[in-house]
Amino acid sequence: MSSLKLTDKVYSVGVLNPNARVADVIMNIKYGTSYNSYIVKGSEKNAIVETVHHNYFDEYMENIKSVIGDEKIDYIIINHTEPDHSGALRRIKQVYPEAQIFATSAGATYLKNIANEDLNVKVVKNGESISLGDLSFEFISAPFLHWPDTMFTYCKEEKVAFTCDFLGAHFCEPRMLSNLIGYQEAYDYSFEYYYRCIFGPFKSFVQQGLAKLQPLQIDVICNSHGPILMGKDIEIAIEKYNKWSLPVEKSKKEVAVVYATAYGCTKAVAMDIQKGIQDELGDKVDISMYEINVNSPEEIADKLNSCDGFLLGSPTINREAVPQIWDLISRLDAINTKSKTVSAFGSYGWSGEAVANILERLKALKCKVFQEGLRVCFVPSEEELKSAYEFGREFAKQL
Ligand code: FEO
Repeated sequence: MSSLKLTDKVYSVGVLNPNARVADVIMNIKYGTSYNSYIVKGSEKNAIVETVHHNYFDEYMENIKSVIGDEKIDYIIINHTEPDHSGALRRIKQVYPEAQIFATSAGATYLKNIANEDLNVKVVKNGESISLGDLSFEFISAPFLHWPDTMFTYCKEEKVAFTCDFLGAHFCEPRMLSNLIGYQEAYDYSFEYYYRCIFGPFKSFVQQGLAKLQPLQIDVICNSHGPILMGKDIEIAIEKYNKWSLPVEKSKKEVAVVYATAYGCTKAVAMDIQKGIQDELGDKVDISMYEINVNSPEEIADKLNSCDGFLLGSPTINREAVPQIWDLISRLDAINTKSKTVSAFGSYGWSGEAVANILERLKALKCKVFQEGLRVCFVPSEEELKSAYEFGREFAKQL
């Protein structure tokens, strides 16, 4: 991709990666991505905002040179230090050794450990500004969007906000602009998937970030992945983030009971726990039942992250809970799950470690763990099912 003029003084100089199919190890992306970077040409100083993945350095340099030729870069702004944006920084600094790097305090620490050398980063705080002559940058702290290091940079003269990952998408649009997207449906899917994976765990911070953008006059959102947002697309994107991150008003408690079952024993326990919760709370509760291998992990994880409390059931196999339960636990948003009332249950044959192992992990996630869980040996007896029912009733009282 070559450089692209966005406003009188702001240029896109990022690179495309149409073949990317995985991002951050955990995201399966269908339509590639881009690593967006920008040059801002002030009357006295030239600045780069974000760099790119280190694999694309040569193409990136060509784009930079096509905008500034033999002029130098004076400032490099790193809004977020993840290596897809800071990977090329060391080599850029070798080309422009006098360039001053700016980042947040957390960003400066991370850059030291990413570059493994002292890059002489200047730490900036929320509200600080720097001048490029006829243009200026204001730095706006935006922590946990999505790392502690994150900030936005705003150029009021050009009405451009540089928001790094925020409001981006893993989506490779060769023409780079939101008003030129060729496959809108695919982009909409990618925009939402990206939000869910990257920002879903940080909803309150998303609200704070949106509030910080709200008073600014913005014609262009220069994000760090996917199409750059222009015109009405800015409003649409912000409205989606707002809708997805607002706390949900609930008239009832929501509980999820998830179980893995080989021969129906753990399922039988799950059913009686459900009855106990239902009888205790009546119409004040909505209980969602999920069976591993029947319901999708994505569907279950969404509910676990949004409900008021949950129970995970697993038989013990090889002295452990089944892998699907661990997969689900790995999908829990640590921030959203903290302090939730949770517990575990399961049928076992001879050793029965699954329940204790699940609870140990949930305690580490700072959940409110109810009792020591519930275990039954092989097929639950009438008495054990009665215990499951009572366990459900007692669990419900903690919600
Ligand atoms: Fe695109 Fe959080 O890096």
